[in-house]
Amino acid sequence: VTFLPIIATRRDGGVHTEEELRFLANGAADGSIPDYQLAAWLMAAYLNPLTAQETAWLTLAMADSGERLDLSGLPKPWVDKHSTGGVGDKTSIVVLPLLAACGLTVIKMSGRGLGITGGTVDKLSAVPGFRVDLTPEEMKTQARRIGLALTGQTPALAPADKTLYALRDVTATVGSIPLIVSSILSKKLAGGADVIVLDVKCGSGAFMKSLDEAQRLTTALLETAKLCGLQVRVAITDMSEPLGAAVGNALEVAEALSVLDSRRRGDLPGGTLRFQRLCTELAAITLEAAGVSPDRDSALRAVSEALSSGAAMQKASEWFVAQGASDPRSDSFVLPAAQLVREVRSPSAGYVGKIHCDAVGQAVLELGGGRLLKTDEIDPAVGLVLQVEVGSPVRVGEAIFTIHASSAEAADRAEAAVANAFEFSADRAPAVGPVLEVR
Ligand code: URA
Repeated sequence: VTFLPIIATRRDGGVHTEEELRFLANGAADGSIPDYQLAAWLMAAYLNPLTAQETAWLTLAMADSGERLDLSGLPKPWVDKHSTGGVGDKTSIVVLPLLAACGLTVIKMSGRGLGITGGTVDKLSAVPGFRVDLTPEEMKTQARRIGLALTGQTPALAPADKTLYALRDVTATVGSIPLIVSSILSKKLAGGADVIVLDVKCGSGAFMKSLDEAQRLTTALLETAKLCGLQVRVAITDMSEPLGAAVGNALEVAEALSVLDSRRRGDLPGGTLRFQRLCTELAAITLEAAGVSPDRDSALRAVSEALSSGAAMQKASEWFVAQGASDPRSDSFVLPAAQLVREVRSPSAGYVGKIHCDAVGQAVLELGGGRLLKTDEIDPAVGLVLQVEVGSPVRVGEAIFTIHASSAEAADRAEAAVANAFEFSADRAPAVGPVLEVR
């Protein structure tokens, strides 16, 4: 087999064999297919989407491009969670230690930022010392010891996704449903968990902008999971405004820790409280799916208890230390801070009607918080912190967001871009969400 006819098959809307997709996954993993040919295939696959069967074959081939973790010997249930990606989506940093504090064994493989959405790997990489390249053995040893381990894609686990993911990010081919499905589910297969909760984001800050599209992605995830022998639960959640207050890698880690740390509860801004609600609901959905709690209400009680008792924060500390960072409760824990911090004030009075997340996400990307080229280095310190959320009353001249930038010019550009992201209205918009549907 050579790759050129495989590109032509996709370009012409043909159907791949399983062998062709294995050739693709292995070639992406070992570097024997060059980036330009993979990029051409990705664009063809964006324009001529893979069938359900092709998606399942690609998913299995990507999972098999590296090792698959065998979790036997670790306490059950083994759980994993994944999001399709959103602006300000730092949910995993809260939900993983929360679930581990509730007694589950949590194993997760995360991705880098993709398009306007941030990636958990980039967020945790903003923490000095935090390793996101654990070996399979390290994953298992750590999960046995503290109930939780997270890694990025390494040469050992789903390496084909590492290559394809980085290329999709910079070739405008992220938003294809079969490509998203194979990317997510290949990592979940490689991770070895048997309870998998997927957070399908829906709205201007997600790849699926409408509920209809999010439902189509959900159906595809469920269908491919079944073909691959994976049990998954899907929650469709609102992404029509940035999630939480912070957007930007180090800023989001700080926000996630503020949700976990009961000493800081009480002074959280509105957007952060909405984010906290999403985290507790997703954690409760996971406890229910794992059969640990008999129903949603008792699951929610267990989750609230893990948060308010400090058990979840204690678990987060163990996790950060185990992966090479300082204890987030200690003085030696310092996150990178931006050169320049600028407050931006509201030009209007009324209620915040909309905050367009694509403009916010794009602004953070251009501040240096994401990549425009595969090889771009991320600036972990930059980003935005929103002081208001949809529904907040505002007066003229009241601070509505803060820019964290590396220079005045970069802050000027972000200010202009984000000013257009806000819509104001005379009436208060009804609150949406956070969970729209569970399947
Ligand atoms: N998360 C992933 O891991 N892959 C995607 O394609 C989108 C979100």
